[in-house]
Amino acid sequence: MLFFVRPLESILEITKCIVVFASQALQSGAFLYYLKIMKNENSRVNLQLIVFPEVSEIEKFITRSIGKKVQVTHINVLRHRDFSFVARVFIHPHFRSLVGFDTLIYKKVKAPWDCEANIALYVKNSGLPHTARLIEISKAPITAQFLQEDLGELSLMIRNSHKLALETGRRLAEIHLMAKSATAELPEKLERFDSAKSIVELAADCYYKLHEHFADFDRLLALQMVGCAVRDAQKLTEGDMCFQHGDVYAENIMLRQTSLAPTFIDWSYFCFVGPQLYDLATLTSAHSKNRALFKRRDAVIQGYCDVAQMPVEAVKEMLPAAFRFSRLMFLKWLLVRVDMGITQTTVGPVRPLIDRVVQEIIG
Ligand SMILES: Nc1ncnc2c1ncn2[C@@H]1O[C@H](COP(=O)(O)OP(=O)(O)OP(=O)(O)O)[C@@H](O)[C@H]1O
Ligand SMILES: [Mg+2]
Repeated sequence: MLFFVRPLESILEITKCIVVFASQALQSGAFLYYLKIMKNENSRVNLQLIVFPEVSEIEKFITRSIGKKVQVTHINVLRHRDFSFVARVFIHPHFRSLVGFDTLIYKKVKAPWDCEANIALYVKNSGLPHTARLIEISKAPITAQFLQEDLGELSLMIRNSHKLALETGRRLAEIHLMAKSATAELPEKLERFDSAKSIVELAADCYYKLHEHFADFDRLLALQMVGCAVRDAQKLTEGDMCFQHGDVYAENIMLRQTSLAPTFIDWSYFCFVGPQLYDLATLTSAHSKNRALFKRRDAVIQGYCDVAQMPVEAVKEMLPAAFRFSRLMFLKWLLVRVDMGITQTTVGPVRPLIDRVVQEIIG
C-alpha cells in the first residue's frame, strides 16, 4: 500500500510545483515574454532581404562600366539586408589590368535607399575628401547600384589608437569644412533639419506616428520625447549647419590598406543638412557600432576641434543634445519602416528598438 501512496503523493507534489511555477512565471512576466518571443519569431517572416544579385548581373554592370568584357571569379558577401546588398568582387586575373583593380566593392540598394545614387554623386562632385573612390553608379526606378574602390578589410571599429582617433576627428572636420564651401548642388530631396522648427516638427511627427501605430505606447513618454526635442532644438540650431553623413560610426570608417588612412564610407539615405556637431556626436557615442573607439572619444573631439577651430569644452557641452537628436532621427527611420508595414529589422523586431530609442532620448 505504502508503495502506491508514495508515487501518488509525488505526482500531486509535482503537479503542485508546476501550478506554483506557472503562476509565478505568469506574475514575473516570463510567460508573457515567451509569448512575445513566439510572436516575434512569426513576424520575422515580414523581413524580406533585397534579392541576392546574380554574379552575372554584377559582371554585366562592371563590363558596362569599363566598356569591355570583364570576368569575375567570385564574390564575398559583406552585407545582405532588407534594403542593401554589399559584396567584394574578385576580378578574374586576365581582366585585372583592364579594370585597374584586383577587387571592387559592389553595392545594391532599393527604395527608399535608392536616393543613395544622388548622394554618392554629390559626395563626388563636391570633392568631399577622405571618401572611397566612386567608380560607377547606375540608377533604375527603385534600385541603385554602385562600384567603389576596395579599401580593404580593416575598419576603425576593429582597430584604433590615439593617433588614428585624432586623425579621424581631423578628417571629419575637413569633410564638414569642404561641404560648407562646396558649390555642388545638394541632392534635390535631401532632408533639412536646420531650424528649431524643423526639429520640433520631426519630434511631433514621431509622436503622432507612435500613437497611430502603437495604441499601447505610453503617451507620457512620447510627450516627454517631444519636450526634449523642444528643449534641444534651440541649442542645436545656435551653431553652424552643414551637410552631415548621418551614420558616422567607427563601422563606417575604413582604414585604407597599407596607409591606414581613415576613410568614410556609406554615404546614404541618412545624409541630411543639419547641426554641424551631429556626426561628431554619433562618432563619439557609446553606440555598439563604435566599439572601443568610445574610449578614444577625447582624441576624436580634439582632432575635430583643432581643424574646425572650435573650443573643446563648448563642443563637449553640445554633444549630448546632438546625440539625442541622432536618436530621434533613428526613431524616424524605424517609424518609416513601420509605415511600410515592416515590423522587423536585421537586428531584431522594431518595437523593442523603438522603446529603447525613446528611453535614450528622454534619458
Ligand atoms: N569601399 C569599401 N571598401 C572596403 N569595404 C567596404 C567598402 N564599402 C563597404 N565596405 C564593407 O561593407 C560593409 C557594408 O557596407 P555599407 O556600410 O556601405 O553598407 P550598408 O548596407 O549601409 O551597411 P550598414 O547598414 O550596416 O551600415 C561595410 O561595413 C564594410 O565592411
Ligand atoms: Mg555601413
